[in-house]
Amino acid sequence: PFRAVILCGGSGSRLWPLSRETLPKQFISLNDTHSLLQNTLLRLSAANAARRPMLVCNDAHRFIAAEQAAEIGLQDLELILEPCPRNTAPAIAAAALRAMRADPAAVLLVAPSDHVLEDGPVLRQALETAHAQACAGALVTFGIVPTAPLSGYGYIQAAASAGDPAGARKVRRFVEKPSTEIAQGFLQEGSYYWNSGIFAFRAAAYLRELEQHAPAMLAAVRQALASGSGDDAVCRLDPADYAACPADSIDYAVMERTDRAVMVPLECAWSDVGAWDSVWSLAPKSADGNAVMGDVVLEDSRNCLVHAEHRMVASVGLDDIVIVETADAILVLRRDRAQDVRLLVERFKSQH
Ligand code: GDD
Ligand code: MG
Repeated sequence: PFRAVILCGGSGSRLWPLSRETLPKQFISLNDTHSLLQNTLLRLSAANAARRPMLVCNDAHRFIAAEQAAEIGLQDLELILEPCPRNTAPAIAAAALRAMRADPAAVLLVAPSDHVLEDGPVLRQALETAHAQACAGALVTFGIVPTAPLSGYGYIQAAASAGDPAGARKVRRFVEKPSTEIAQGFLQEGSYYWNSGIFAFRAAAYLRELEQHAPAMLAAVRQALASGSGDDAVCRLDPADYAACPADSIDYAVMERTDRAVMVPLECAWSDVGAWDSVWSLAPKSADGNAVMGDVVLEDSRNCLVHAEHRMVASVGLDDIVIVETADAILVLRRDRAQDVRLLVERFKSQH
């Protein structure tokens, strides 16, 4: 079985004002009873991969993370707390080192906490294939068939299917966040997939790659664990040591460089719910293409997303607009500018 590592340290800034510093995207629920994190945990339990999962999150969110897990009946987990964000490569390194302590042969399933992913036999089969590959020493990524040349994803060029009946393919090339023009070329070529951001490998295999490609990072994480505090259930990385760790994502630090990468295609519905336009895409819509949550009245409006939390929101004659109303902030956005909400959040930060 897998040991699951759930990455819960992102900020989800493009979903402002619902996603906040105090309650980032993974902890909020989008038109659902459960939060994205809870759905991730439930999906993993259903696939039998949630035995004592490791949640890696910012120290500031430890109570929210533990509470949300408890709410769905998950008590037995391990919390790894980061005093500051250092991106995904060090977060996974800390989890891998902790997992090795309990089981030197641990096989990790690293999953983002903030995705929407269709559960079912297709996912289960892909996990099984990945497990076998990981056991054999591969660093497995799950590939999604791309639909547009988006620059926010990793792109995987898979080798021709090498006769593995389960569909695993050697990775020829991994390119993290290429420009739109380069991504366009990849799509035309046709053998490229998006990196889903879900990975499977032996903890030892990942650490070996880090040793080779990012030794300073690995040393810093080891140090932050050694001088950190905690017990079997909670571990707090040492603030000074972790702050000194180079920040990088697993995609740049390892996946672009390793020659042991294998891709398992994931042919089920997937979205990383990056911004408000994907929330609109995923939401149930009226015949006019409007997706509404809360007390909303729309007249002669099409393809809008309106989220009202505290007040009634009404509109007349709007097309392709997103409105998000919360207690202390209201966002009005052209749907095709959804990526740029990040700019707003950067501006707020620089003003403080
Ligand atoms: N613990 C921890 N610490 N988690 C983190 C940190 C951190 O410092 N930074 C990010 N995360 C979590 C996020 O919450 C998310 O669940 C996951 O790690 C991925 O981080 P993102 O910041 O969302 O990455 P991305 O979306 O830019 O790119 C990744 O995902 C894409 C698919 O959604 C890459 O893996 C791409 O290659 C991939 O296509
Ligand atoms: Mg993401």
